[in-house]
Amino acid sequence: MIQKYIFGEPFETEAVVEKIQAEEGLPDIGEISLKGGFSYSYMMKDSDIIYGLGEANRGLNKRGYRYVSDCTDDPIHTEDKASLYGAHNFIVVSGEKCFGLFFDYPSKITFDIGYTRSKLLSVSCENANLYVYVIGGENAYDIVKQFRRIIGKSYIPPKFAFGFGQSRWGYKTKEDFRKVLKGHRENHIPLDMIYMDIDYMQDYKDFTVNEDNFPDFSEFVQEMKDAGVRLIPIIDAGVKIEKGYSVYEEGVEKGYFCKREDGSDFAAAVWPGYTHFPDVLNKEAREWFGSHYKFLLDQGIEGFWNDMNEPAIFYSEEGMKELKAYIRGYAEEKEDTSPWELGARTEGLANSARDYRRFYHCVDGKMIRHDKVHNLFGYNMTRAAGEAFERLAPDKRILMFSRSSYIGMHRYGGIWTGDNKSWWSHLLLNIKMMPSLNMCGFLYIGADLGGFGADATRDLVLRWLAFGVFTPLMRNHAAIGTREQEVYQFEDVDDFRGVIETRYRLIPYLYSVYLKAAENDDLYFKPLAFEYPEDSFAAGVEDQLMIGEEIMIAPVYTQNAKGRYVYLPEEMMLVKFTKDNCYTTEVLEKGHHYIEAALSEVPVFIRKGKCIPVVKAAECVEKLDTEHVEYVGYEGIFHIDNIYI
Ligand code: NOJ
Repeated sequence: MIQKYIFGEPFETEAVVEKIQAEEGLPDIGEISLKGGFSYSYMMKDSDIIYGLGEANRGLNKRGYRYVSDCTDDPIHTEDKASLYGAHNFIVVSGEKCFGLFFDYPSKITFDIGYTRSKLLSVSCENANLYVYVIGGENAYDIVKQFRRIIGKSYIPPKFAFGFGQSRWGYKTKEDFRKVLKGHRENHIPLDMIYMDIDYMQDYKDFTVNEDNFPDFSEFVQEMKDAGVRLIPIIDAGVKIEKGYSVYEEGVEKGYFCKREDGSDFAAAVWPGYTHFPDVLNKEAREWFGSHYKFLLDQGIEGFWNDMNEPAIFYSEEGMKELKAYIRGYAEEKEDTSPWELGARTEGLANSARDYRRFYHCVDGKMIRHDKVHNLFGYNMTRAAGEAFERLAPDKRILMFSRSSYIGMHRYGGIWTGDNKSWWSHLLLNIKMMPSLNMCGFLYIGADLGGFGADATRDLVLRWLAFGVFTPLMRNHAAIGTREQEVYQFEDVDDFRGVIETRYRLIPYLYSVYLKAAENDDLYFKPLAFEYPEDSFAAGVEDQLMIGEEIMIAPVYTQNAKGRYVYLPEEMMLVKFTKDNCYTTEVLEKGHHYIEAALSEVPVFIRKGKCIPVVKAAECVEKLDTEHVEYVGYEGIFHIDNIYI
């Protein structure tokens, strides 16, 4: 049962697509106060678990901390960070009482889940203009499925997007890309995608290609495709301000950029220097921005990643003016302050709340200040692309994923979880975040494997890839200036081959699980508690995940570990996928076990009575031989009609 409540005059985010009649009065679970904004409070029982919040820090059970939905470009995801790149305002209270809550509110909203007071769940925001959905159901899993139904079907990527992708900020020339291809092919490591970061563009201008480096871009795209690899270019939110650049000139002429209060186009500096932001909340401007993806589609491109769309701002014209005035005063000793304050002011230029109050969107003829709808920018940038793909390539699936998002965007693309670091703690964060993202509709998901910032170690890359075998988006990505982490840069490359080949052996199975989850509003990754609700120990397990109906995974995420402890909620068959297309099996009883896993091995636990289809690895998805399928696990239970091969 789903109840919808209206407070004030909410902005239509279009997160929910099912028509639901609004209720009179207030929800009968918890308390609502409209004094000085909006706040919801509920006293949790000791045993309540709180699920949800999608892309958020910390654990699967969100209890014990404070989270703020406020899409933020912050590359340092330490434990104390309250906001990441997405805003996913859906939670489930799971305990004696079970219910879900979705706060459809496009600006900053705080979820204090037992942080200020250990039993108090409180959700608050500045303006009491929002929709609140209360979702009842038999248990947490049932509630999640109902929520997923009302927000519409999740995006489905093309099958090649289940292959392995290599990325690094800094690949510039054809030779750079050919080197990556060669490194994989010569070492017989499967590869389906190479990502093009901002350096493929001409001076970081969206929908351009550097002409010196790629004079014949479509031929190069084809050359790569002939070798089984798709090039996947990045698109940034800001459009460079430059006379003669057609996207900029068209946008100015048509009035499609975000404006200041005085009607002039707002300027924010990002990679290209000063840019304007396309007003993707405005339907016409969205259509216009989306239509520009055609430039790359026409050259054979079949996938994109949308970046910097919180939108990230390095500094604005106004911010710079204010800082310069401050520095002048400081130099003339008019400002009585410390050098630290000076540093903080310089740092504070980026992604500042003041800037988000300086520009406006035009929605249905009304000017709306950006900060009031801040969390919708990435969603609508990706929607611009998704809607354009429906017009431009209606018979094709185009790969699309975004950095920033709001619930609703899951219908148009997936997400990657932004600038993590080559830290073991971020591998664990990656594991714990996956089911929460699925609960909010995002199925095509993954993190930068090996870590984006900081220098990766060989063992971290291997362990992270071994988890990445199961994430729909399996991409190794690293920042410019960090240690090279393409898998062929490390010694004993056959260990890496073993892990990545395991992904390809499982693609028919994993893609089937994905399609079933998308069709049935189901989860691809599930917490153990969703499958074993009666098992009180399983409820506390956050570092093991269920996938589909058939398997459980328990990734190793600590350095120098030979293996790890695993809890089996029922008898399962441990299958260790090993190098050279081999595997071993062992049936294990319900209970606690220590499982060894070498760096090249990928353990999978097959549920009692189930089996999964496994094929031979190939160099790319198209070359997988799906005629010859082996069923691994318990005998004879997997139905052939259930696989999409
Ligand atoms: C920030 C993105 O998060 C990262 O993945 C990318 O490499 C850089 N921008 C440069 O485009």
